[in-house]
This record gives sequence, structure tokens and C-alpha cells, in this order.
Amino acid sequence: MKVYLETMGCQMNSLDSELVEAMLRRAGMERVDEPRAADVLLYNTCSVRQHAEDKVHSRLGWACRRKSGGRPLVIGVLGCMAQRLGEELLRRHPGVDIVCGPGQLAELIKLIEAAPSGPRALLDPPRRQVPDGRGLDRLDRRRDATRTHRPGQAYVRILRGCNKFCAYCVVPFVRGPEVSRSPRSILDEVRRLADAGVTQVTLLGQTVNSYCHSEGGRTTRLAELLTRIDAVDGIRRVHFITNYPAEMDRTILEAMRDLETVCEYLHVPAQSGSDRVLKAMGRHYTRSQYDELIDQARQLVPGLAVSGDFIVGFPGETDADHAASVDLIRRSRYKNSFLFKYSPRPATAAARRLTDDVGNEEKRRRHQGLLAVQGEVSLVDHRARIGGTVEVLVEGPSVRSNRQPVPAPPGQRQLTGRTRTDHIVVFNAPDELVGRYVRVSVEAATPLTLIGRTEDRE
Ligand code: SAH
Ligand code: SF4
Ligand code: F3S
Repeated sequence: MKVYLETMGCQMNSLDSELVEAMLRRAGMERVDEPRAADVLLYNTCSVRQHAEDKVHSRLGWACRRKSGGRPLVIGVLGCMAQRLGEELLRRHPGVDIVCGPGQLAELIKLIEAAPSGPRALLDPPRRQVPDGRGLDRLDRRRDATRTHRPGQAYVRILRGCNKFCAYCVVPFVRGPEVSRSPRSILDEVRRLADAGVTQVTLLGQTVNSYCHSEGGRTTRLAELLTRIDAVDGIRRVHFITNYPAEMDRTILEAMRDLETVCEYLHVPAQSGSDRVLKAMGRHYTRSQYDELIDQARQLVPGLAVSGDFIVGFPGETDADHAASVDLIRRSRYKNSFLFKYSPRPATAAARRLTDDVGNEEKRRRHQGLLAVQGEVSLVDHRARIGGTVEVLVEGPSVRSNRQPVPAPPGQRQLTGRTRTDHIVVFNAPDELVGRYVRVSVEAATPLTLIGRTEDRE
């Protein structure tokens, strides 16, 4: 059987798809890149903004039309949108065979095999039935350590779900309650990855810094987990995303300062620079607490790079609130930020209680405004690095948005990679370097990338 698997959404979904792919391969199924060549079409979906869901509906429309045109196809919707809409997806798109929640992916092969006997939705249990965590990492434990999303690097889930219920956010509804994985299971996985040649791991959790696992009267938090991962042979870099500002404790920053593998990179979304909006968003910190956090982090960790997320046009956001976000971008000196227009999500507190009262045109204007300011701030950060040398883990050929006008010499290509601080670097080098480390001297910069020349190779 040939399977097409398309992934939308965040790193969690990207990891889930990798685990699904390993499972499909074990079951003798082959992954294909072209949906027209497939017997099974799988969409691993995201619900975080309406736009993400619209994309899935249009894919499903296409897939169902092919199927009703007589092609024997199995169509499956996986992940967050599958969980949010459940059986409604089966009604809306007759032709869909499988709707599979993000916590049920281990059952996917069975669902594919059972598809001829009729459509089926297999969803995660309601939030109040809090799982104890056992068995939740069944797929993570069975991953194929030799095939990660990028050569030499891997995502590792340490925390599932989210308990924060920020007013705008659908994630707690679709990913269930927060459950921390046991340190033993995480360390086994990291060791297995390291044995297979992985040198960089990115620990994943919606609020990764709230990691907390108790067993036999002993509690492990993120700083201790980092210490134990740091000791794994072969691991050279550790990142962890995403951090929740109100739960950032000093021990994590100290681990970043003291442990060689833990990289000087902090992704800690603010969402807004205005106290009024933060309160309406239910974020549980104030602007000045956030400012203090950034100051403390920069003071403790030399060379720290910070990135963030912002939402523009949250209900009731005024010009003055927006100006506070602009100001926060300048003050925090983010190396980059992810900027989103507010999209009301059904069932969330904001969608139920607040009117989406900032018009599309105004959202667009504010989005552009933040993009422009972040561009300036990024350029200042990047220019300050010209003349220096950085260690880069090579990722692959540079994508169009990063590509430089000067072509590469024969035998080489424009490759990109990332520094410890998560800066993107573009340089010419042979393909064999993908997954390895090079030293690059930085010669130029744009708001998105550093541009340089390789010095030597390892
Ligand atoms: N757990 C992470 C983020 C998860 S969602 C955290 O707490 O930071 C990724 C980003 O999408 C969020 O940081 C937020 O900026 C954005 N986002 C979430 N819900 C949104 C919505 N309804 N509309 C627009 N952006 C949203
Ligand atoms: Fe969503 Fe807030 Fe949880 Fe992040 S912390 S996933 S924004 S509810
Ligand atoms: Fe991620 Fe989207 Fe789900 S952001 S957790 S894939 S709703």
C-alpha cells in the first residue's frame, strides 16, 4: 500500500507524523510524495487558526472527489482538527474513512485495515478523564531513530497537552491535559537517538518549562532533566520549546548557563505587550513581569537569543495596546518572532465571551506593523554578528526565502543550517555536510538570515 501523509501545524505534529511514518513502514506500507500515486491519503491536521482548518477542508474536498470518481482510496484525518470536529468531519466529507485523535495514532494501522468496513472516528477521551501518562508514549518509544525530521537532529516529546487555557487557544481542547513523560523513558529515547547519530535534540511541550514528573516520591523538573540529557554521550545541543513566561524558573536559566549542551536560545512567547490584553487573554503574567524575565535571562545567560510569538487584533485590542506590543518587540530584542492575526476558535473562552471586533483590514495593518518592527530588530541583531564565527549544524539546501543571489561554485550548493542560538545561516558547501557541524564566518546579514563562508569542517 502506498501512503501519502501531509503534515500541518506545529513541531508536535511534525513529530507525530514521523512516528506515524515509522509505524507505517513497520507495517509494510510505503510513503509516497505525490497524493495522486497513493492508495491511502492521510492529513495530520492543525486547528490553531481557521486558516489551518480551511486548508484541510480543501484537501479533503479534493480527496473525496477523486474517490467518488471511482478510485479506491482510504482517506484519513489525523491530529488536532480530527479531535476537534470528530464525526462532523465524516458528515461534512462523505468519503473520509478515518478520523483519528492525536492520542490515538498508535491505532492507525488497525483503522486503515478496517476502513473497508465503514467510516470510523477514534477520538481521545474527554479532558476530565485524565490519563496517568502510562502508555501515552507508546509511539515515541517505538520511533525509528535512524529517520528523524532532519539528519542529525530530532524532536523529543517530554510533555503532552496543556492546562493553561489561554482565552484564544484551542490546544487544551484538542491535545488534552498536561502529562509529563517519565525521565527514564525520555532518556532511553535520547540515548537511542544519540546511538543512531543524532547530536541535537529539541525537547517539545506546549509549556515545556512546566515539565514535572513524580514517581516513587521523587519529582523531576526540567532543569534536572536537562542535566541528565547533557550527560548522554554524543548529544551536543539541546533546545526546548515552547516556554510559558509565568513558569520560567531560575534553575532552567542556570542549566542553560552551566550545561555545555543546553543552547543559549529561549523561545518564550509574550502574545501581547499590553497588560489589559494579557489579562483578557488569561496569560497570568504582567508586562513588567515579562520584562523582568527577559532581563534576568539575559543577565544570567551570556549570548542568549530570545524569540517570541504575538497575536494582533485580539478582541478589544486598541491602538495603544498594539503600540505596547511594538514596544515589547523593541525592548526584548527578539532574534525573530512568530506573528499571528487573531482567529476566533470555537469553544474557547474568547470566542464564547468576546466579540472579534478588530476588523480584518486593521489586523492586517497591525500584523504588517509588527513584522516591520521585528524585521528592524532582527537586522540589528544579525548585523552585530558580522565578522564573527559561528558553529552551524547543517540542515540542507537553502529554501527559496533564504537563497542568496550569488550562485554556489561547482560541487557545492547553497546550504542552510542553524547556530546554537537558532540563527539561520546560509553558506556554500558540499551536500555531504548535511547533518554535520561546520564553522562559518559571518560576512553579511538580512532580517531573516546570516550569510557566511565555511572555515573548516569536522
Ligand atoms: N504552547 C505555545 C503555543 C501554541 S500555539 C505557547 O503557549 O506559547 C502557537 C501560537 O499560535 C501561539 O503562541 C499563539 O501566538 C498563536 N495562536 C494560538 N491561538 C491562536 C488564535 N486563536 N489566533 C491566532 N493565533 C493563535
Ligand atoms: Fe495554547 Fe496557552 Fe496552552 Fe500555549 S499555553 S498551548 S497558547 S493554551
Ligand atoms: Fe500544534 Fe496546531 Fe495542534 S499548533 S498542537 S498542530 S492545533
